[in-house]
Amino acid sequence: MASHALGRHLALTGFMGAGKSTFGAQVARRLGRGFIDLDRQIEAQAGATVKELFARDGEAGFRAIEETVAASVLAAAEPAVVALGGGAVLSAGTRERLQQRAFTVLLDVDPGTAWERASRTARPLAADEDAFLALFRERRPVYEETADARARDLDGIVLAAAGIDVQAGALDLLGELVPGSGPIEIIADATVAGIHGVAVQLALGSRDASTHEVPAGEAAKAIAVLDRLWRSLRVGRDGMIVALGGGCTTDLAGFAAATWMRGIPWTAVPTTLVGQVDAAIGGKTAVDLPGGKNLVGAFHWPARVVIDPGTLDTLPEAELRNGMAEAVKTGLLMGSNVWELPLAELVRRCASFKAAVCLGDPHDRGPRNQLNLGHTFAHALEAAAGYDLPHGEAVALGLLAALRLSGNDEAVAVVRSELGPKPVRVDREAAWAALARDKKSVGGVPRLVLLEKPGMPTWGNEAPAADIRSALDSLIAD
Ligand SMILES: NC(=O)c1ccc[n+]([C@@H]2O[C@H](COP(=O)([O-])OP(=O)(O)OC[C@H]3O[C@@H](n4cnc5c(N)ncnc54)[C@H](O)[C@@H]3O)[C@@H](O)[C@H]2O)c1
Repeated sequence: MASHALGRHLALTGFMGAGKSTFGAQVARRLGRGFIDLDRQIEAQAGATVKELFARDGEAGFRAIEETVAASVLAAAEPAVVALGGGAVLSAGTRERLQQRAFTVLLDVDPGTAWERASRTARPLAADEDAFLALFRERRPVYEETADARARDLDGIVLAAAGIDVQAGALDLLGELVPGSGPIEIIADATVAGIHGVAVQLALGSRDASTHEVPAGEAAKAIAVLDRLWRSLRVGRDGMIVALGGGCTTDLAGFAAATWMRGIPWTAVPTTLVGQVDAAIGGKTAVDLPGGKNLVGAFHWPARVVIDPGTLDTLPEAELRNGMAEAVKTGLLMGSNVWELPLAELVRRCASFKAAVCLGDPHDRGPRNQLNLGHTFAHALEAAAGYDLPHGEAVALGLLAALRLSGNDEAVAVVRSELGPKPVRVDREAAWAALARDKKSVGGVPRLVLLEKPGMPTWGNEAPAADIRSALDSLIAD
Protein backbone atom coordinates (compact mmCIF):
# COMPACT_ATOMS: atom_id res chain seq x y z
CA MET A 1 0.00 0.00 0.00
CA ALA A 2 1.29 3.48 -0.87
CA SER A 3 1.83 5.72 2.14
CA HIS A 4 1.72 9.11 0.37
CA ALA A 5 1.12 10.74 -3.01
CA LEU A 6 4.65 11.98 -3.71
CA GLY A 7 5.39 10.94 -7.31
CA ARG A 8 1.97 9.29 -7.65
CA HIS A 9 -1.45 10.39 -8.79
CA LEU A 10 -3.70 11.50 -5.96
CA ALA A 11 -7.07 9.82 -6.57
CA LEU A 12 -10.20 10.82 -4.69
CA THR A 13 -12.83 8.17 -4.21
CA GLY A 14 -16.11 8.19 -2.34
CA PHE A 15 -19.82 8.30 -2.86
CA MET A 16 -21.78 10.76 -5.02
CA GLY A 17 -22.01 14.09 -3.23
CA ALA A 18 -18.84 13.61 -1.14
CA GLY A 19 -17.28 16.66 -2.83
CA LYS A 20 -14.64 14.87 -4.93
CA SER A 21 -14.85 17.32 -7.85
CA THR A 22 -14.94 20.47 -5.72
CA PHE A 23 -12.17 19.40 -3.33
CA GLY A 24 -10.21 17.77 -6.15
CA ALA A 25 -9.90 21.04 -8.05
CA GLN A 26 -8.89 22.88 -4.85
CA VAL A 27 -6.30 20.26 -3.84
CA ALA A 28 -4.82 20.30 -7.36
CA ARG A 29 -4.38 24.08 -7.13
CA ARG A 30 -2.67 23.77 -3.76
CA LEU A 31 -0.30 21.04 -5.00
CA GLY A 32 0.35 22.76 -8.34
CA ARG A 33 -0.88 19.65 -10.18
CA GLY A 34 -3.25 19.13 -13.07
CA PHE A 35 -6.82 18.15 -12.18
CA ILE A 36 -8.89 15.51 -13.94
CA ASP A 37 -12.54 14.97 -13.16
CA LEU A 38 -13.09 11.47 -14.54
CA ASP A 39 -16.78 12.01 -15.39
CA ARG A 40 -15.99 15.21 -17.33
CA GLN A 41 -13.13 13.41 -19.10
CA ILE A 42 -15.49 10.59 -20.09
CA GLU A 43 -18.06 13.10 -21.37
CA ALA A 44 -15.41 14.95 -23.39
CA GLN A 45 -14.12 11.73 -24.94
CA ALA A 46 -17.55 10.16 -25.58
CA GLY A 47 -19.20 13.37 -26.76
CA ALA A 48 -22.20 12.67 -24.50
CA THR A 49 -23.17 13.34 -20.87
CA VAL A 50 -22.97 10.62 -18.21
CA LYS A 51 -26.78 10.59 -18.12
CA GLU A 52 -26.96 10.12 -21.90
CA LEU A 53 -24.35 7.33 -21.76
CA PHE A 54 -26.35 5.53 -19.03
CA ALA A 55 -29.50 5.85 -21.16
CA ARG A 56 -27.72 4.76 -24.35
CA ASP A 57 -25.44 1.93 -23.11
CA GLY A 58 -26.88 1.01 -19.69
CA GLU A 59 -24.76 1.03 -16.50
CA ALA A 60 -22.56 -1.85 -17.73
CA GLY A 61 -21.75 -0.01 -20.94
CA PHE A 62 -20.93 3.16 -19.03
CA ARG A 63 -18.65 1.26 -16.62
CA ALA A 64 -16.71 -0.21 -19.54
CA ILE A 65 -16.05 3.28 -20.96
CA GLU A 66 -15.20 4.52 -17.45
CA GLU A 67 -12.63 1.76 -16.96
CA THR A 68 -10.90 2.57 -20.26
CA VAL A 69 -10.76 6.30 -19.57
CA ALA A 70 -9.54 5.70 -15.98
CA ALA A 71 -6.77 3.46 -17.34
CA SER A 72 -5.52 6.14 -19.74
CA VAL A 73 -5.70 8.88 -17.07
CA LEU A 74 -3.77 6.76 -14.55
CA ALA A 75 -1.17 5.78 -17.17
CA ALA A 76 -0.03 9.42 -17.53
CA ALA A 77 3.48 9.93 -16.12
CA GLU A 78 2.87 13.41 -14.67
CA PRO A 79 1.22 12.98 -11.24
CA ALA A 80 -2.22 14.60 -11.22
CA VAL A 81 -5.21 14.86 -8.92
CA VAL A 82 -8.02 12.62 -10.18
CA ALA A 83 -11.61 12.80 -8.94
CA LEU A 84 -13.05 9.36 -9.63
CA GLY A 85 -16.72 8.84 -10.32
CA GLY A 86 -18.61 7.25 -7.40
CA GLY A 87 -18.71 3.84 -9.11
CA ALA A 88 -15.28 3.81 -10.73
CA VAL A 89 -13.73 1.59 -8.05
CA LEU A 90 -16.29 -1.16 -8.73
CA SER A 91 -13.93 -2.22 -11.55
CA ALA A 92 -11.23 -4.66 -10.39
CA GLY A 93 -8.98 -3.37 -13.18
CA THR A 94 -9.30 0.23 -11.98
CA ARG A 95 -8.66 -0.85 -8.38
CA GLU A 96 -5.47 -2.59 -9.47
CA ARG A 97 -4.28 0.44 -11.47
CA LEU A 98 -4.99 2.70 -8.50
CA GLN A 99 -2.86 0.47 -6.33
CA GLN A 100 0.01 0.60 -8.83
CA ARG A 101 -0.10 4.25 -9.87
CA ALA A 102 -1.99 6.30 -7.28
CA PHE A 103 -2.46 7.18 -3.67
CA THR A 104 -6.19 6.90 -3.09
CA VAL A 105 -8.04 8.98 -0.50
CA LEU A 106 -11.60 8.14 0.52
CA LEU A 107 -13.56 11.33 0.92
CA ASP A 108 -15.87 10.63 3.85
CA VAL A 109 -19.37 12.05 3.88
CA ASP A 110 -22.45 11.16 5.90
CA PRO A 111 -25.31 9.68 3.83
CA GLY A 112 -27.73 12.57 4.53
CA THR A 113 -25.32 15.23 3.24
CA ALA A 114 -24.45 13.08 0.22
CA TRP A 115 -28.15 12.73 -0.71
CA GLU A 116 -28.80 16.42 -0.11
CA ARG A 117 -26.04 17.37 -2.54
CA ALA A 118 -26.45 14.62 -5.15
CA SER A 119 -30.24 14.92 -5.45
CA ARG A 120 -29.82 18.51 -6.63
CA THR A 121 -27.86 17.31 -9.69
CA ALA A 122 -28.66 15.27 -12.79
CA ARG A 123 -26.91 12.10 -11.59
CA PRO A 124 -28.63 8.99 -12.97
CA LEU A 125 -28.22 7.07 -9.66
CA ALA A 126 -29.53 9.90 -7.47
CA ALA A 127 -33.21 9.88 -8.44
CA ASP A 128 -34.66 7.97 -5.48
CA GLU A 129 -33.56 8.50 -1.85
CA ASP A 130 -34.06 4.91 -0.60
CA ALA A 131 -32.19 3.43 -3.57
CA PHE A 132 -29.46 6.04 -3.11
CA LEU A 133 -28.99 5.20 0.59
CA ALA A 134 -28.99 1.46 -0.12
CA LEU A 135 -26.28 1.99 -2.73
CA PHE A 136 -24.33 4.09 -0.21
CA ARG A 137 -24.27 1.15 2.24
CA GLU A 138 -23.43 -1.35 -0.49
CA ARG A 139 -20.47 0.63 -1.88
CA ARG A 140 -18.94 1.64 1.44
CA PRO A 141 -16.83 -1.55 1.89
CA VAL A 142 -15.41 -1.24 -1.65
CA TYR A 143 -14.29 2.35 -0.97
CA GLU A 144 -12.72 1.32 2.32
CA GLU A 145 -10.89 -1.58 0.75
CA THR A 146 -9.54 0.58 -2.11
CA ALA A 147 -8.50 3.66 -0.12
CA ASP A 148 -5.01 4.22 1.26
CA ALA A 149 -6.32 6.96 3.59
CA ARG A 150 -9.47 8.86 4.51
CA ALA A 151 -10.28 12.56 4.78
CA ARG A 152 -13.26 14.83 5.32
CA ASP A 153 -12.02 18.25 4.18
CA LEU A 154 -9.43 20.05 2.07
CA ASP A 155 -6.70 20.13 4.73
CA GLY A 156 -7.45 16.47 5.52
CA ILE A 157 -6.92 15.47 1.89
CA VAL A 158 -3.60 17.35 1.66
CA LEU A 159 -2.38 15.87 4.95
CA ALA A 160 -3.35 12.36 3.84
CA ALA A 161 -1.60 12.93 0.49
CA ALA A 162 1.60 13.82 2.33
CA GLY A 163 1.31 10.79 4.64
CA ILE A 164 0.54 12.92 7.70
CA ASP A 165 -1.82 12.02 10.55
CA VAL A 166 -2.77 14.79 12.94
CA GLN A 167 -4.88 13.69 15.89
CA ALA A 168 -4.98 14.02 19.64
CA GLY A 169 -3.92 10.73 21.20
CA ALA A 170 -2.07 9.61 18.03
CA LEU A 171 0.91 8.52 20.13
CA ASP A 172 -1.14 5.66 21.59
CA LEU A 173 -2.20 4.62 18.07
CA LEU A 174 1.34 4.36 16.68
CA GLY A 175 1.00 0.58 16.35
CA GLU A 176 -1.68 1.14 13.68
CA LEU A 177 -0.30 4.36 12.20
CA VAL A 178 3.30 3.36 11.46
CA PRO A 179 3.19 1.66 8.04
CA GLY A 180 4.47 -1.83 7.36
CA SER A 181 4.84 -4.84 9.60
CA GLY A 182 8.63 -5.22 9.99
CA PRO A 183 10.79 -4.35 12.99
CA ILE A 184 11.14 -0.77 14.21
CA GLU A 185 14.09 1.02 15.79
CA ILE A 186 13.25 4.21 17.64
CA ILE A 187 15.61 7.18 17.58
CA ALA A 188 14.53 9.43 20.43
CA ASP A 189 15.54 12.75 21.94
CA ALA A 190 16.75 11.79 25.43
CA THR A 191 14.43 14.27 27.16
CA VAL A 192 11.41 13.22 25.12
CA ALA A 193 12.24 9.53 25.64
CA GLY A 194 11.95 10.19 29.37
CA ILE A 195 8.47 11.67 28.92
CA HIS A 196 6.88 9.72 26.06
CA GLY A 197 9.28 6.83 25.37
CA VAL A 198 7.38 4.14 27.27
CA ALA A 199 4.03 5.12 25.69
CA VAL A 200 5.62 4.85 22.24
CA GLN A 201 7.24 1.49 23.00
CA LEU A 202 3.95 0.13 24.34
CA ALA A 203 2.02 1.41 21.32
CA LEU A 204 4.50 -0.23 18.91
CA GLY A 205 4.24 -3.55 20.77
CA SER A 206 6.21 -6.45 19.35
CA ARG A 207 7.49 -4.44 16.36
CA ASP A 208 9.65 -2.33 18.70
CA ALA A 209 13.18 -3.76 18.38
CA SER A 210 15.24 -1.14 20.25
CA THR A 211 15.52 2.52 21.23
CA HIS A 212 18.52 4.76 20.54
CA GLU A 213 18.59 7.86 22.70
CA VAL A 214 20.29 10.92 21.21
CA PRO A 215 21.19 14.21 22.90
CA ALA A 216 18.43 16.80 23.26
CA GLY A 217 18.62 19.77 20.92
CA GLU A 218 21.09 20.72 18.18
CA ALA A 219 23.80 18.49 19.70
CA ALA A 220 21.93 15.57 18.10
CA LYS A 221 22.75 16.78 14.59
CA ALA A 222 26.45 15.91 14.86
CA ILE A 223 28.47 13.47 12.77
CA ALA A 224 29.62 11.75 15.98
CA VAL A 225 25.99 11.02 16.96
CA LEU A 226 25.21 9.83 13.45
CA ASP A 227 28.30 7.62 13.48
CA ARG A 228 27.15 6.05 16.76
CA LEU A 229 23.76 5.36 15.21
CA TRP A 230 25.26 3.80 12.09
CA ARG A 231 27.27 1.47 14.34
CA SER A 232 24.30 0.41 16.42
CA LEU A 233 21.40 0.19 13.94
CA ARG A 234 20.36 -3.38 13.14
CA VAL A 235 17.12 -2.85 11.25
CA GLY A 236 17.00 -4.11 7.65
CA ARG A 237 15.25 -2.82 4.57
CA ASP A 238 12.00 -4.45 5.69
CA GLY A 239 12.13 -2.34 8.84
CA MET A 240 11.45 1.22 9.84
CA ILE A 241 13.05 3.99 11.85
CA VAL A 242 10.74 5.99 14.10
CA ALA A 243 12.01 9.45 15.08
CA LEU A 244 10.64 10.79 18.37
CA GLY A 245 11.46 14.38 19.31
CA GLY A 246 11.79 17.88 17.89
CA GLY A 247 13.23 19.07 14.59
CA CYS A 248 16.76 18.13 15.64
CA THR A 249 15.83 14.49 16.20
CA THR A 250 13.71 14.21 13.05
CA ASP A 251 16.47 15.86 10.94
CA LEU A 252 19.06 13.42 12.35
CA ALA A 253 16.92 10.27 12.28
CA GLY A 254 15.61 11.09 8.81
CA PHE A 255 19.18 11.42 7.56
CA ALA A 256 20.16 8.18 9.30
CA ALA A 257 17.22 6.51 7.51
CA ALA A 258 18.23 8.09 4.18
CA THR A 259 21.76 6.71 4.43
CA TRP A 260 21.31 3.41 6.30
CA MET A 261 21.44 0.57 3.76
CA ARG A 262 21.12 3.22 1.03
CA GLY A 263 17.78 4.31 2.42
CA ILE A 264 15.11 2.68 4.54
CA PRO A 265 11.66 4.09 5.38
CA TRP A 266 11.12 6.28 8.41
CA THR A 267 8.27 7.71 10.41
CA ALA A 268 8.51 11.11 12.09
CA VAL A 269 6.79 11.65 15.42
CA PRO A 270 7.46 15.34 16.08
CA THR A 271 6.95 16.54 19.65
CA THR A 272 7.75 20.27 19.34
CA LEU A 273 5.63 22.95 17.71
CA VAL A 274 8.52 23.63 15.28
CA GLY A 275 8.54 19.94 14.38
CA GLN A 276 4.76 19.67 14.00
CA VAL A 277 4.26 22.74 11.82
CA ASP A 278 7.56 22.64 9.94
CA ALA A 279 10.62 20.46 10.50
CA ALA A 280 9.09 16.97 10.26
CA ILE A 281 7.24 17.80 7.05
CA GLY A 282 8.59 17.77 3.51
CA GLY A 283 11.46 15.29 3.62
CA LYS A 284 14.47 17.56 4.24
CA THR A 285 16.90 15.77 6.56
CA ALA A 286 20.35 16.90 7.65
CA VAL A 287 23.18 17.03 10.15
CA ASP A 288 25.52 19.92 10.92
CA LEU A 289 29.24 20.27 10.23
CA PRO A 290 31.67 22.59 12.03
CA GLY A 291 31.46 24.79 8.91
CA GLY A 292 27.70 25.30 9.10
CA LYS A 293 24.24 23.99 9.92
CA ASN A 294 22.53 21.41 7.70
CA LEU A 295 25.57 21.11 5.41
CA VAL A 296 25.16 17.36 4.90
CA GLY A 297 21.68 16.13 4.17
CA ALA A 298 19.25 14.38 1.89
CA PHE A 299 15.70 14.65 0.66
CA HIS A 300 14.02 11.59 2.17
CA TRP A 301 10.25 11.87 2.46
CA PRO A 302 8.95 10.14 5.61
CA ALA A 303 6.67 7.18 5.01
CA ARG A 304 4.42 8.67 7.70
CA VAL A 305 4.36 11.69 9.99
CA VAL A 306 2.34 11.14 13.15
CA ILE A 307 1.46 14.38 14.91
CA ASP A 308 -0.08 14.25 18.36
CA PRO A 309 -0.71 17.86 19.45
CA GLY A 310 -1.13 16.50 23.01
CA THR A 311 2.64 16.03 23.21
CA LEU A 312 2.97 19.84 23.23
CA ASP A 313 1.53 19.91 26.78
CA THR A 314 4.98 19.21 28.21
CA LEU A 315 6.89 21.53 25.85
CA PRO A 316 8.67 24.42 27.63
CA GLU A 317 7.21 27.87 26.96
CA ALA A 318 10.37 29.07 25.18
CA GLU A 319 10.09 26.18 22.69
CA LEU A 320 6.43 26.98 22.07
CA ARG A 321 7.48 30.56 21.20
CA ASN A 322 9.98 29.20 18.65
CA GLY A 323 7.14 27.29 17.03
CA MET A 324 4.78 30.27 17.09
CA ALA A 325 7.25 32.27 15.00
CA GLU A 326 7.05 29.57 12.29
CA ALA A 327 3.26 29.40 12.66
CA VAL A 328 2.90 33.18 12.21
CA LYS A 329 5.15 32.97 9.13
CA THR A 330 2.97 30.17 7.77
CA GLY A 331 -0.25 32.09 8.49
CA LEU A 332 1.08 35.13 6.61
CA LEU A 333 2.08 32.94 3.65
CA MET A 334 -1.35 31.30 3.51
CA GLY A 335 -3.24 34.52 4.22
CA SER A 336 -5.05 33.18 7.27
CA ASN A 337 -4.94 34.28 10.93
CA VAL A 338 -3.98 30.81 12.14
CA TRP A 339 -2.39 32.32 15.26
CA GLU A 340 -5.94 32.94 16.57
CA LEU A 341 -6.83 29.22 16.41
CA PRO A 342 -6.64 26.70 19.25
CA LEU A 343 -3.19 25.07 19.19
CA ALA A 344 -4.31 21.70 17.77
CA GLU A 345 -6.14 23.36 14.86
CA LEU A 346 -3.22 25.73 14.26
CA VAL A 347 -0.95 22.69 13.96
CA ARG A 348 -3.30 20.99 11.50
CA ARG A 349 -3.64 24.05 9.25
CA CYS A 350 0.09 24.88 9.25
CA ALA A 351 1.11 21.26 8.67
CA SER A 352 -1.29 21.03 5.74
CA PHE A 353 0.05 24.26 4.22
CA LYS A 354 3.67 23.13 4.41
CA ALA A 355 2.75 19.66 3.13
CA ALA A 356 1.07 21.12 0.04
CA VAL A 357 4.01 23.40 -0.77
CA CYS A 358 6.51 20.55 -0.37
CA LEU A 359 4.44 18.01 -2.34
CA GLY A 360 4.35 20.58 -5.13
CA ASP A 361 8.09 21.26 -4.97
CA PRO A 362 9.76 18.36 -3.14
CA HIS A 363 13.30 19.32 -4.19
CA ASP A 364 13.13 23.03 -3.37
CA ARG A 365 13.40 24.33 -6.92
CA GLY A 366 10.66 26.96 -6.84
CA PRO A 367 7.57 27.57 -4.65
CA ARG A 368 9.19 25.94 -1.62
CA ASN A 369 11.40 29.03 -1.47
CA GLN A 370 8.50 30.96 0.06
CA LEU A 371 8.99 29.03 3.31
CA ASN A 372 12.16 31.08 3.79
CA LEU A 373 10.15 34.26 4.47
CA GLY A 374 12.18 36.17 7.09
CA HIS A 375 14.75 33.38 7.36
CA THR A 376 17.53 35.06 5.37
CA PHE A 377 17.72 37.79 8.03
CA ALA A 378 17.09 35.29 10.85
CA HIS A 379 20.05 33.12 9.80
CA ALA A 380 22.32 36.18 9.58
CA LEU A 381 21.39 37.26 13.11
CA GLU A 382 21.84 33.71 14.45
CA ALA A 383 25.28 33.44 12.84
CA ALA A 384 26.32 36.86 14.21
CA ALA A 385 25.11 35.78 17.67
CA GLY A 386 27.23 32.62 17.47
CA TYR A 387 23.93 30.64 17.47
CA ASP A 388 23.24 31.86 20.99
CA LEU A 389 19.87 33.35 19.97
CA PRO A 390 16.56 31.43 20.13
CA HIS A 391 15.50 30.57 16.57
CA GLY A 392 11.98 31.93 17.19
CA GLU A 393 13.34 35.37 18.18
CA ALA A 394 15.57 35.41 15.11
CA VAL A 395 12.66 34.44 12.85
CA ALA A 396 10.37 37.06 14.40
CA LEU A 397 13.00 39.74 13.72
CA GLY A 398 13.68 38.36 10.25
CA LEU A 399 9.96 38.54 9.45
CA LEU A 400 9.91 42.20 10.52
CA ALA A 401 12.73 43.02 8.08
CA ALA A 402 11.23 41.07 5.16
CA LEU A 403 7.78 42.57 5.73
CA ARG A 404 9.13 46.11 6.00
CA LEU A 405 10.96 45.61 2.70
CA SER A 406 7.68 44.30 1.30
CA GLY A 407 6.03 47.58 2.38
CA ASN A 408 3.45 45.53 4.25
CA ASP A 409 2.47 47.47 7.40
CA GLU A 410 -0.46 45.18 8.20
CA ALA A 411 1.79 42.11 8.39
CA VAL A 412 4.45 44.04 10.34
CA ALA A 413 1.74 44.84 12.92
CA VAL A 414 0.81 41.14 13.17
CA VAL A 415 4.42 40.14 13.85
CA ARG A 416 4.73 42.86 16.48
CA SER A 417 1.55 41.91 18.30
CA GLU A 418 1.88 38.12 18.05
CA LEU A 419 5.64 37.71 18.53
CA GLY A 420 6.81 41.01 20.10
CA PRO A 421 10.37 40.88 18.72
CA LYS A 422 13.01 43.09 20.36
CA PRO A 423 16.23 44.21 18.59
CA VAL A 424 19.21 42.03 19.49
CA ARG A 425 22.74 43.05 20.40
CA VAL A 426 25.02 41.45 17.79
CA ASP A 427 27.91 42.70 15.70
CA ARG A 428 26.42 44.58 12.72
CA GLU A 429 29.32 43.79 10.36
CA ALA A 430 29.25 40.11 11.28
CA ALA A 431 25.50 39.98 10.56
CA TRP A 432 25.96 41.76 7.21
CA ALA A 433 28.79 39.39 6.23
CA ALA A 434 26.60 36.39 7.14
CA LEU A 435 23.76 37.76 5.02
CA ALA A 436 26.08 37.99 2.00
CA ARG A 437 27.02 34.32 2.51
CA ASP A 438 23.36 33.23 2.39
CA LYS A 439 22.83 30.20 0.13
CA LYS A 440 20.45 32.22 -2.04
CA SER A 441 22.74 35.26 -2.41
CA VAL A 442 23.90 36.29 -5.86
CA GLY A 443 27.11 38.37 -5.99
CA GLY A 444 26.92 38.89 -2.22
CA VAL A 445 23.36 40.30 -2.31
CA PRO A 446 20.64 37.99 -1.01
CA ARG A 447 17.52 37.12 -3.02
CA LEU A 448 14.55 37.75 -0.78
CA VAL A 449 11.12 36.32 -0.13
CA LEU A 450 8.65 39.19 0.08
CA LEU A 451 4.93 39.33 0.82
CA GLU A 452 2.83 41.43 -1.55
CA LYS A 453 -0.05 40.85 0.84
CA PRO A 454 -1.00 38.01 3.20
CA GLY A 455 -1.41 34.90 1.07
CA MET A 456 0.67 36.32 -1.78
CA PRO A 457 4.42 35.71 -1.36
CA THR A 458 7.01 36.22 -4.09
CA TRP A 459 10.54 34.83 -4.06
CA GLY A 460 13.89 35.39 -5.75
CA ASN A 461 13.42 39.17 -5.31
CA GLU A 462 16.29 41.60 -5.66
CA ALA A 463 16.42 44.73 -3.56
CA PRO A 464 19.02 47.53 -3.38
CA ALA A 465 21.85 46.50 -1.04
CA ALA A 466 21.41 49.74 0.92
CA ASP A 467 17.74 48.91 1.66
CA ILE A 468 18.64 45.39 2.78
CA ARG A 469 21.41 46.74 4.98
CA SER A 470 19.14 49.27 6.63
CA ALA A 471 16.42 46.60 7.18
CA LEU A 472 19.06 44.41 8.86
CA ASP A 473 20.42 47.31 10.93
CA SER A 474 16.94 48.08 12.27
CA LEU A 475 16.90 44.64 13.93
CA ILE A 476 20.13 45.25 15.85
CA ALA A 477 20.33 47.11 19.16
CA ASP A 478 23.24 49.48 19.87
N1 LIG B 1 13.97 19.65 7.98
C1 LIG B 1 13.32 20.79 7.93
O1 LIG B 1 12.58 21.08 6.98
C2 LIG B 1 13.47 21.75 9.07
C3 LIG B 1 12.64 22.86 9.16
C4 LIG B 1 12.76 23.69 10.27
C5 LIG B 1 13.71 23.42 11.25
N2 LIG B 1 14.52 22.35 11.11
C6 LIG B 1 15.53 22.03 12.13
O2 LIG B 1 14.86 21.76 13.35
C7 LIG B 1 15.75 22.01 14.42
C8 LIG B 1 15.00 22.72 15.52
O3 LIG B 1 13.95 21.90 15.96
P1 LIG B 1 13.13 22.19 17.30
O4 LIG B 1 12.86 23.62 17.40
O5 LIG B 1 12.01 21.22 17.32
O6 LIG B 1 14.18 21.89 18.43
P2 LIG B 1 14.70 20.58 19.22
O7 LIG B 1 14.54 19.37 18.44
O8 LIG B 1 16.05 20.95 19.66
O9 LIG B 1 13.75 20.53 20.49
C9 LIG B 1 13.75 21.60 21.38
C10 LIG B 1 13.84 21.16 22.83
O10 LIG B 1 12.57 20.70 23.25
C11 LIG B 1 12.70 19.45 23.93
N3 LIG B 1 11.44 18.75 23.67
C12 LIG B 1 11.02 18.28 22.49
N4 LIG B 1 9.76 17.83 22.60
C13 LIG B 1 9.40 17.99 23.88
C14 LIG B 1 8.21 17.73 24.60
N5 LIG B 1 7.11 17.27 23.99
N6 LIG B 1 8.19 18.00 25.92
C15 LIG B 1 9.28 18.53 26.53
N7 LIG B 1 10.42 18.83 25.89
C16 LIG B 1 10.48 18.57 24.58
C17 LIG B 1 13.93 18.82 23.36
O11 LIG B 1 14.51 17.93 24.26
C18 LIG B 1 14.83 20.04 23.10
O12 LIG B 1 15.53 20.36 24.27
C19 LIG B 1 16.92 22.80 13.85
O13 LIG B 1 18.05 22.01 13.80
C20 LIG B 1 16.45 23.16 12.44
O14 LIG B 1 17.54 23.22 11.53
C21 LIG B 1 14.41 21.51 10.05
